[in-house]
Amino acid sequence: MSFSCYINGLGFHVPERIFTNRDMEQLVETSDEWITSRTGIKERRFVSPGQACSDLAYEASLKAISDAGRRPEEITHILVGTFTPDSYCPSTACLLQDKLGLKGVPAFDLYAACSGFLYSLETARALISLHPDAVVLVVGAEVVSSRVNFEDRTTCVLFGDGAGAAVVSGSNKGPKLEDVALSADGSLGSLLTISGGGSANPVKLGDVVGPDFFVQMQGTEVFRHAVRSMVSISRDVLSRNGLTEEDVDLLIPHQANIRIIDSVTKKLHLPREKVYINVDKYGNTSAASIPIALAEARAMGRIGAGSTVLLSSFGGGFTWASALVRF
Ligand code: ACO
Repeated sequence: MSFSCYINGLGFHVPERIFTNRDMEQLVETSDEWITSRTGIKERRFVSPGQACSDLAYEASLKAISDAGRRPEEITHILVGTFTPDSYCPSTACLLQDKLGLKGVPAFDLYAACSGFLYSLETARALISLHPDAVVLVVGAEVVSSRVNFEDRTTCVLFGDGAGAAVVSGSNKGPKLEDVALSADGSLGSLLTISGGGSANPVKLGDVVGPDFFVQMQGTEVFRHAVRSMVSISRDVLSRNGLTEEDVDLLIPHQANIRIIDSVTKKLHLPREKVYINVDKYGNTSAASIPIALAEARAMGRIGAGSTVLLSSFGGGFTWASALVRF
């Protein structure tokens, strides 16, 4: 069955609180020089007490719905990609549905770590292929700071909080979502985990929380797989749409680390000016990183009519994904 999907609107929201590398130096033995040279990150945003994932998702969603020229009541489905939800239950998507006053609208979280937004976009495409009138709110939202061990310098410097949202439907307004490619390899899952408190590692009343409740990662291995996977899936999505790297006007990669971004860029033979980078300002916001960067790149005029934009992500699971958007 043939169908088309369009990104009718985009929006993003980051918390006001800026946490610089100098602030990080007060917490762990690190330096602005080390963090900048190894990761490209200068600062990140952290929520304030009382702010949760659904709060960031709500702000980003309002902007995306308004950008789409729609009213909240027109939304038919809500998907939230996150691995730092408000709670195990209810889902962040249900909490967001309530905040938006959309009782009755189906809402669910999708759990694919940093690839959560692209996995959710593909799910939105599937919903629209089944229900041609669907208007799907797709959100990537994270409060990674809630699951970061601020005594572990190898991980705590990397992450930030934020949310990005898109309104996706079959109506021809905004850029066309041409294609999305997804992949995963669960055999490598142990290289990047938040394992504590799950059913494989349950807690009992009164237990003390250990380091396994926070992001744990084998950075060098993650780095290697991230580069390889993002390059191969980006090439796949281009070639199955009859395109090459030369047709790409802007690459928006997952903003995890400038060295990962640079390696991917080099292997795809793209010049630096065709790559959008904001990891310096926000750090790694996991599932929020691509929708934040997409909305910001458009707002900054980096994307215009006729632009071909390639999105590429990699995250825990491992999961990875790429999407092609034509403005
Ligand atoms: N400040 C100062 N020193 C540090 C810090 C820090 N914040 N962190 C680690 N070090 C030290 C280490 O202890 C080590 O010291 P040692 O040699 O005395 O043991 C030294 O720096 C080198 O450590 P490495 O881990 O080898 O450093 P590397 O150059 O590999 O950089 C990094 C580490 C930045 C984590 C890198 O491996 C990386 O970027 N990996 C990818 C991580 C990532 O982005 N993951 C997320 C992608 S998936 C997702 O988004 C969920």
